[in-house]
This record gives sequence, C-alpha cells and structure tokens, in this order.
Amino acid sequence: MKIGIIGAMPEEIAPILEKVETYTTKKIADNTYYEANYKGVDLVIAYSKIGKVFSTLTASTMIYHFGVETILFSGVAGGINPKLKIGDLIVADKLCQHDLDITAFGHPHGFVPGGAQFVETNAALRKLAFEVAEEMKVSLQEGTIATGDQFVHDPERKSFIESTFNADALEMEGASVAVVCHALSIPVFILRAISDTADTDASFNFDAFMESSAKISADFIMKMVDRLER
Ligand code: ADE
Repeated sequence: MKIGIIGAMPEEIAPILEKVETYTTKKIADNTYYEANYKGVDLVIAYSKIGKVFSTLTASTMIYHFGVETILFSGVAGGINPKLKIGDLIVADKLCQHDLDITAFGHPHGFVPGGAQFVETNAALRKLAFEVAEEMKVSLQEGTIATGDQFVHDPERKSFIESTFNADALEMEGASVAVVCHALSIPVFILRAISDTADTDASFNFDAFMESSAKISADFIMKMVDRLER
C-alpha cells in the first residue's frame, strides 16, 4: 500500500516528517516529495503550496508519478460552524469550490458542466477516522468543507459561503485534491484542524494558531496511518 500525504504549507507536513524520521527526496515541477517507509507503509509526503492549482498539481503528481493508492490531506481551516473552536478537528464528508462561479449562465455556485457542486470523500477512511478519534479520546466532527483561492477574513464572505453551501469550515486546497482523486478513482480523506474563524481577526488567529493546529491534524493523520492496511 502506497499512501500520499499532502499538506499545503511546510508547517502542515513538518510533524509528519519528524515522525517518519528517515526519507529520500525527489524534486518534481518545483516541488519536493518525501518518500519514506513508516511501520511498513510506503508514504509519499509533500506540501503543495497554497491554493487549488498547486494542490491539484501535487495530487496528480502523487498519483501519476508515484503511484499512490490513497491520499490523505492534513492541515488547518477557518471554522464556520460555531461548534468548531480553534484546535478542533473536522473531517470532510463532502467539499465544494466556493469561488467557482458561472451563475451568469444559470448554474448554481460551485458547479460547472461535467463536474458536480459537491465532491464526496471516502466513507471507509471516514469510518476509520471515527474509530481513531474514539481510541485517542479526541472530538472529531464531520461536515462540509468549502475550498477557494481566498484567505477568508470577512464576515460577509464567510456568511455567503455558509448560506450558499451550508459549509462548516473553509480552506484553500481540499476540494481540488478531492476532485482529482474522484476523477482518478483514488480514495481521499480530508482532515483539518481549526486555526481561525474566518472573521476580521482571522489573520491574527491564523498566525497564532496555525502551527499548533497543523500539528493536531498531522498527529491524527499518523494515527490513521498506523491503522491502515499494510
Ligand atoms: N485556512 C485556514 N484559515 C483559513 C481562512 N480563514 N481562509 C482560507 N483558508 C484558511
């Protein structure tokens, strides 16, 4: 079993690289991929850089070049659902692109012909996540994650995303990775820990909590790897 683990930023994969200890690196398309064997599982780890385009490139490279059979995404998100506090974990059951807009032609937000407004993640991986959460005695919520090429720090934009997509959290890479995986029949799992609440104080809170929340997510992902088929 070969598994790809993607984060968007160096801080999102640093705790994972620390756990695997030894790895080799390969540079492809101006991005570094870390190959490791962790407790008998072959891992390919990378941070994609921020946004939908870079994360699409990384997911595609992991699948086509490295032959990963599953992709796990780990990182931080802005919380929308008031139940989600800074440091809380959310697993996406489905994701959408909140900034994809051809409503001018009568289509709903987030939809283009040939695609779908929402893309689902793998149910077996989500089930495993809830088993891991129970074992770790941590709270894990499930919900819709909205992805877009914007750092949201504005109550009006946040409210648009909440009312249009009924989204619980937002970030900048999950849906693009999920779309690639869905198109290529690769099971995908998107996990985020909340770093801010996408309001006026979002950039301040992001700076303060991004690293600690990224570690919460990364530690959880590695517990999942422990439980995956060898
Ligand atoms: N990731 C974490 N916080 C975010 C925010 N407020 N907007 C977009 N992506 C994020």
